[in-house]
Amino acid sequence: MEVLVFENKESGSLYAAQVIANKVLMNNSVNEETVLGLATGSTPTDMYKALIEINKSGVSFSRIITYNLDEYYPMKKSSPHSYHYYMYDHFFQHVDIHEENIFIPNGENKNEDLSKFCEEYELSIRRNGGIDIQVLGLGLNGHIGFNEPGFSMDSLTQKVTLSDTTRTAAVKYFGKKEEVPFQAISMGISTILSADHIMMMAWGNEKAEIVKESIEGQLSKDVPGTYLQTHKNVTIILDAESASKLDNDRISLIESKLS
Ligand code: GLP
Repeated sequence: MEVLVFENKESGSLYAAQVIANKVLMNNSVNEETVLGLATGSTPTDMYKALIEINKSGVSFSRIITYNLDEYYPMKKSSPHSYHYYMYDHFFQHVDIHEENIFIPNGENKNEDLSKFCEEYELSIRRNGGIDIQVLGLGLNGHIGFNEPGFSMDSLTQKVTLSDTTRTAAVKYFGKKEEVPFQAISMGISTILSADHIMMMAWGNEKAEIVKESIEGQLSKDVPGTYLQTHKNVTIILDAESASKLDNDRISLIESKLS
């Protein structure tokens, strides 16, 4: 695991965006697609801002194919609480990505159609050659995507039940807890772990403890973040606060010279 600590979330986000841009540039130069796994929440917002600037400066995203990690269920795409809305608002509507290359779990599915949808989501990722770079945030309870504590490492895309911690954390977006859905559709742990490269970002003091547990703790289904320890190519991108509880011998300090 490569653990990089940046001065602040802006410089960490810029680094993540540059890693993506380098991959896209390389693939564009040989007319190949870049397949990205994308996350929502407050963590990646600055990365999307940086990617929009990179796109404006001439790096084309016309050959990127994106798969989002998750979506609340049930959820209308048009709802401002949906991850569909979030992705268009923070990223897609500002760049030259092709609409047909955007894949987000569909919270409008009928319950009886969900398992077929999830199977098709997995197949679609595979048909496009698998995910090159998977962007991740980390839930306060260690969830990745919406894979909550207790989920096994071989889980695939499926309907999941949200934990109380996760629903409480979402109140800041929904206003009232009663408004937060009880379920979601999430890419599975095994789907996430099959990406070539995983970049997990976390910012702020509130993530310091779960970052430590995920990186330094015993592999455990109680903290899905620890599953990342089993992957051969993971970059953890932190700011000084989220890294503050880590054992210092294990981290590389990157000077913030990027912005
Ligand atoms: C959310 C999302 C995750 C996200 C995590 C952290 O509920 N489903 O994909 O990474 O929880 O959220 P935030 O970035 O807002 O801290």
